[in-house]
Amino acid sequence: MSLLEVRDLHIRIDGHHLVRGVDLQIERGECLALVGESGSGKSLTALSLMQLLPRHARCDFERWQFDGQSLLGTTEAQWRRLRASRIGMVFQNPMTALNPTMRVGDQIGEVLRVHSRCSAREARRHALELLERLGIVNAAKRARQYPFELSGGMLQRAVIAMAVACKPALLIADEPTTALDVTVQAEVLALLRELCRDQHVGLLLITHDLGVVEAMAEQVAVMYAGRIVEAGPCQAVLSQPAHPYTRALQQAMPRLDDRRDSLLAISGTPPDLSQQLNGCAFTPRCERAMQICPVRQPAVYAPSKARRCECWLWEPQAQGAGR
Ligand SMILES: Nc1ncnc2c1ncn2[C@@H]1O[C@H](COP(=O)(O)OP(=O)(O)O)[C@@H](O)[C@H]1O
Ligand SMILES: [Mg+2]
Repeated sequence: MSLLEVRDLHIRIDGHHLVRGVDLQIERGECLALVGESGSGKSLTALSLMQLLPRHARCDFERWQFDGQSLLGTTEAQWRRLRASRIGMVFQNPMTALNPTMRVGDQIGEVLRVHSRCSAREARRHALELLERLGIVNAAKRARQYPFELSGGMLQRAVIAMAVACKPALLIADEPTTALDVTVQAEVLALLRELCRDQHVGLLLITHDLGVVEAMAEQVAVMYAGRIVEAGPCQAVLSQPAHPYTRALQQAMPRLDDRRDSLLAISGTPPDLSQQLNGCAFTPRCERAMQICPVRQPAVYAPSKARRCECWLWEPQAQGAGR
């Protein structure tokens, strides 16, 4: 049984259909990377998995299994417990995740105290251990400091410490290294990877960097305009991408010696999601688009059991229909 299984997730905000039928599956101890350009719906998807979407958002799941139980119909009180102890989240900017007026060690200690009912002293000791384990040098001193006194990399480690303090089964990390220096990025990613393997935590890692995907993930899901257009084992998908969008992402990927924060642009822009979409949303930007592409929902192509791609390219009849 998978740790997380989501089927047919839809998110609508103000009449915009922003996430349009997403399926996700995460195994214990494995990393699923969710990739796609900015605006494709990655963060909304992550937030929906913690029921942290903005109030005016509407979100529907057909199926939502987590650790052997369905989360459909979970109450807000149950969610507060889940968020704090079963599902941890690490956001892009560590500064926003911490309370600026509270010492770092106390913040981690508080999380521990609320959930494991230990004494303040035990919590402080445990928080210190965590900071040490997460590679914070001089942890005792750091624990007594306030967030503004720590570097970005150290802050993100502290946030990860908080997220894993109660040993969650699932960790959701939304572009956790984007705000960090290049040199610390790799360290923080390695830390997440290690946590996930050693403690059997499932990791949903959101990134727009295919290099990160390759280094971190067992599985990858490629998102475009609110849908997963291609998914499967990382190695297979990256070595032989089936969707033209996955290829375009690869071509837009900066080289290792030319690291920049964002992808080179793929020409064209994503569709306007306030409008009804009929066919494949990538059509206007697709080098291999055919007549059928803008008018009919793409067929599902499954090159192997674990892989899935939504594209007309692999359907002989669609090819026959010509360009
Ligand atoms: N609170 C919101 N209200 C209205 N639209 C939103 C809100 N949050 C995100 N969106 C829109 O939803 C789309 C997907 O956003 P997001 O999930 O943040 O993308 P990503 O994380 O992939 O960059 C974008 O077009 C964005 O403008
Ligand atoms: Mg985002």
